[in-house]
Amino acid sequence: MAAILKGCIFDLDGVIVDTARYHFLAWKRLAGDLGFEFTEKDNEQLKGVSRMTSLDILLATGNIEKDKAAKDRLAVKKNEWYIEYIRKLTPADILPGSVELLEELHSHGIKCAVGSASKNAMLILERLRLTDRFDVIIDGTRVNSAKPDPEVFVLAAREMGLRYDEVIVFEDAVAGVEAAGRAGMKCIGVGKPEALRMAATVVTDLSELNYSKLIKIYGS
Ligand code: BG6
Ligand code: MG
Repeated sequence: MAAILKGCIFDLDGVIVDTARYHFLAWKRLAGDLGFEFTEKDNEQLKGVSRMTSLDILLATGNIEKDKAAKDRLAVKKNEWYIEYIRKLTPADILPGSVELLEELHSHGIKCAVGSASKNAMLILERLRLTDRFDVIIDGTRVNSAKPDPEVFVLAAREMGLRYDEVIVFEDAVAGVEAAGRAGMKCIGVGKPEALRMAATVVTDLSELNYSKLIKIYGS
């Protein structure tokens, strides 16, 4: 029997809210402290990637080596600056179409989850006043392996009580699209089609989607 769509798993950063800018500003400031330039193009490699892997990529960009203790201190510093920015988020920062889609999915009995690599996801959702709109929230504090490992999505489906073929994932990052694929979940890319070739469909933002379009993509 064909599976029926029962759940949606949303990545947070880049799908529901554009926090990449704030990650960039904080990483750029850290690079500046360490004495090298970090560009917006360099920052593209950090999308969807965990905090410590992002730091490793940043240090490699500056050709800098640090031991574990120094890296931990740098990551804390960057996160303090990042939190200064995200504390200022308001519901006006929610990306177009997100609330409408969540409401429509809810009215059709589709469960919704967040599947994010970020350890700041709860704070961001709180600032956006979105916490209560999700049945399940799995963030970077709940997983051992970061995307492209599928753990975050596997946990989200499990907590919703759904099989992997009953959900669709929404992702803006290559690592996230790969993670959904590895979990055997259909994925809609949010962003640029060139970057997200492995996704079933790519949209610019969630305002391009509604329940009936999702059902078509799910069944295709
Ligand atoms: C992802 C972002 O959602 O979360 C990455 O796309 C970020 O850029 C990662 O590095 C971890 O976020 P945080 O908030 O735990 O540093
Ligand atoms: Mg993302």
